[in-house]
Amino acid sequence: MRIGVPRETAPRERRVAATPETVKKLASIGSVVVEEGAGIAADIPDAAWAPAGASIGDPWSAELVLKVAPPSLAEVAKLSDGAVLVSHADPTDRPDVVAALAAKRISWAALERVPRISRAQKMDVLSSMATLAGYRSVLEAANTGGRFFPMMMSAAGTLTPVQVLVIGAGVAGLSALATAKRLGAVCRAFDTRPAVKDQVKSVGARFLELELDASAEDAGGYAKAVSAEFLAKEHALLAKHCAEVDVVITTALVAGREAPKLIDDAMVAAMKPGSVIVDLAAPRGGNCTATRPDEVVQTANGVWIVGPTDLPSRMAADASRLFARNVRELVLHFRGKATDGLNLDPEDEIIKATFVMLGGQTERGGASG
Ligand code: NAI
Repeated sequence: MRIGVPRETAPRERRVAATPETVKKLASIGSVVVEEGAGIAADIPDAAWAPAGASIGDPWSAELVLKVAPPSLAEVAKLSDGAVLVSHADPTDRPDVVAALAAKRISWAALERVPRISRAQKMDVLSSMATLAGYRSVLEAANTGGRFFPMMMSAAGTLTPVQVLVIGAGVAGLSALATAKRLGAVCRAFDTRPAVKDQVKSVGARFLELELDASAEDAGGYAKAVSAEFLAKEHALLAKHCAEVDVVITTALVAGREAPKLIDDAMVAAMKPGSVIVDLAAPRGGNCTATRPDEVVQTANGVWIVGPTDLPSRMAADASRLFARNVRELVLHFRGKATDGLNLDPEDEIIKATFVMLGGQTERGGASG
């Protein structure tokens, strides 16, 4: 079997789905062909692949193709009939791409569908990337605003520490809290899931209490959509805290939905001049009504609103390291006990959840867009 690793072509995508480190292990499944320049933006020169056992060439004719972003129509045209594609599938708003993949009888493993169960943790790119995104969001906030994060006592007087509010304490939110704390900020956080209270406290932040709806979490531990009444209470709580803090980082998301709008124009208008909102939910429409994806805007009252959609890609070297390790583990799982190529067990829980298309068929639930 040949394994292809293309150069990413999506705007702002600098990551690569394999690294020289992961290629060594992938060699047990097949020979790896990397497209020229595929790793350049992630600090991997072309010369680094050969010592790891990979060659530079055409990755698209391979039987297994490993990618970061969903394929474009032009990329699908280059895939071989019946190939296995591992990539993100989200956003699946391209029915033309899905139809083209189906016409080529592609089997498509969607990285965001890897189930969040313990044995699949090492394959979970969403968690690895959210950890990096949370970290980077704090650096973006520090870089955009005009404030010094830690408390400083100097001959010129005292500077009080920056106050940070994180909304949504999932993987990204907890990483943001831990990073802001390490920079010396004083942190508080809110989440609809009561279960995260202890995690928030464990990274040294205060958990904002609201009369919590015990049903805000589903059986799998994921957030559910909450009631309008709950959202109104949350709105009032967040309005008070947004006006007090210097930095707001929003990460609130309910799987499969547009991001909930938690910060409206009136709340932004009540914030301090120079304060910063970094909206990690920007790729899903944003948690803040004023967010513009991939833009930094400043409101009339001087509040900065940052809407990045590419935070992991801004740390392409380490993001690629983690991403490629997750992909390697997933592909090794797909191999199963096969001695050559892949052995996709259709009854396996991880395989069932991850493949949104098998041999061009989408009835397994998902990629039909
Ligand atoms: P997650 O699903 O683990 O966490 C989302 C959290 O939001 C959950 O804890 C959930 O309970 C909470 N939440 C849901 N509704 C809420 C509400 N109304 N109020 C307060 N909290 C609420 O997601 P994860 O992995 O932590 O990612 C967080 C966000 O960061 C996602 O939107 C993800 O797409 C985004 N992300 C953005 C990147 C970028 O470059 N902008 C890169 C990577 C992740």
